Amino acid sequence: MNNQNQRRDFIKTSAILAGGMILQPFGMPGAYASGTDQIKLAVIGCGGRGTGAVFQAFDTGHNIKLVAMADAFRDRIDKSYTPIFEKYGKDKVDVPEDRKFVGFEGYKEAIKLADVVILASPPGFRPDHFEEAVRQGKQVFMEKPVAVDAVGIRKVLAAAEEAKKKKLNVVVGLQRHYQDNYRETIKRLHDGAIGDIVGGQVYWNDGGVWVNPRQPGQTEMEYQMRNWYYFNWLCGDHINEQHVHNIDVANWVKNSYPVSAYGTGGRQVRTGKDHGEIFDHHSITFTYADGTVIFSECRHFPGAANRVDESFQGTKGKVYMSAGNHGNITDYKGNSIYSHNRENNPNPYQVEHDELFAAIVKGEYKFADAENGAKSTMTAILGRNATYSGKVVTWDEALNSEISLMPDTLAWDAMPKVLPNADGYYPFAIPGKTKVI
Ligand SMILES: NC(=O)c1ccc[n+]([C@@H]2O[C@H](COP(=O)([O-])OP(=O)(O)OC[C@H]3O[C@@H](n4cnc5c(N)ncnc54)[C@H](O)[C@@H]3O)[C@@H](O)[C@H]2O)c1
Repeated sequence: MNNQNQRRDFIKTSAILAGGMILQPFGMPGAYASGTDQIKLAVIGCGGRGTGAVFQAFDTGHNIKLVAMADAFRDRIDKSYTPIFEKYGKDKVDVPEDRKFVGFEGYKEAIKLADVVILASPPGFRPDHFEEAVRQGKQVFMEKPVAVDAVGIRKVLAAAEEAKKKKLNVVVGLQRHYQDNYRETIKRLHDGAIGDIVGGQVYWNDGGVWVNPRQPGQTEMEYQMRNWYYFNWLCGDHINEQHVHNIDVANWVKNSYPVSAYGTGGRQVRTGKDHGEIFDHHSITFTYADGTVIFSECRHFPGAANRVDESFQGTKGKVYMSAGNHGNITDYKGNSIYSHNRENNPNPYQVEHDELFAAIVKGEYKFADAENGAKSTMTAILGRNATYSGKVVTWDEALNSEISLMPDTLAWDAMPKVLPNADGYYPFAIPGKTKVI
């Protein structure tokens, strides 16, 4: 069977599996079988990353057409559409007005129109978006983190199982898994280059990110959505939103997930009205089943020393890794065991899409990243539970939590669960008083 036929069969099979019927793009029966080898793409969440991921999908060089865009806000779609259209033109970008979906529910329609979906909204919505994409039998690229609470994690884990059954490729944007230095170095660690891993340190310490101050006329819901980084129902705190990358490396190196966490954290420098409820620093020790302890630290302190990397110690040596393409393994006398050659290493953001679309075009089922994405996200949530409560929190206790951070109703005039006081400040966790959520 040639590749084209293989791919058509693959997409057809996925579509049949999507619910006992053939789901077709544009709702037209038979459209997949019409002889075009074009992959239809939709993007849900048209911000910085969603837009970047569309560029990377096109830059794979495959025959891809963007057919639908969905975002909570119309201005975000416009801001994303313009550079995409200017760079790739009408042959690759076919998103007329009636395929630009605005609001909380638009994702369902956008997903229907595509073979492959990019899920890049704030992570609070990811479980629902992923569940729907899998229900509709679509191949998925979704950004990390994949949830903000245990209720969402369990939804992603269930959908991940469904995706496996339906043989839907799922790539999660924990791009270190697609980065040469991490792949090559961790392969050697798993082959025993430094013996058993017995300890480690992972960091995301930098100056922090954007703030979108409240604007006149905004409802509370719109304000929190525009300033989403600072609200847990949308972001999960920066330990989840950014530090998940480094925590995920620890899990990858250990080939497992922690059994408990103990930590401290708070708000030291980021304490204004527009800083919502999240902490600006967390320090945690994660304990794994074999007794290994990994120290994890993330902070957003402008002017303090930045550090974003991972180190691990084994019974026979140690390793240093970072997104700057480092991968250095030495013994305890300083002799090199492996030093990664950083020259011409490809951009991991591009590799994610190159590998995903290559598999799709060949009709191969190769990627099932969602389960690890969910468990590494859960590790960050476990860490947040430890710093918020100030208690030792176990994996099982955190994963079994029934507390959902999401609002009961998603509408512009509905109220999120966390609201400001009369002076405009939001409540935040107090270690020792706050309960595990
Ligand atoms: N892998 C990486 O290195 C990396 C880098 C940057 C961002 N990210 C991740 O990508 C995601 C998006 O981050 P970003 O920097 O693009 O943020 P962003 O604010 O630029 O974009 C998010 C977009 O989602 C939209 N949105 C909000 N709610 C929505 C909903 N319910 N349905 C559809 N769209 C909705 C927002 O309006 C916005 O346009 C986050 O999860 C972030 O962690 C990953």
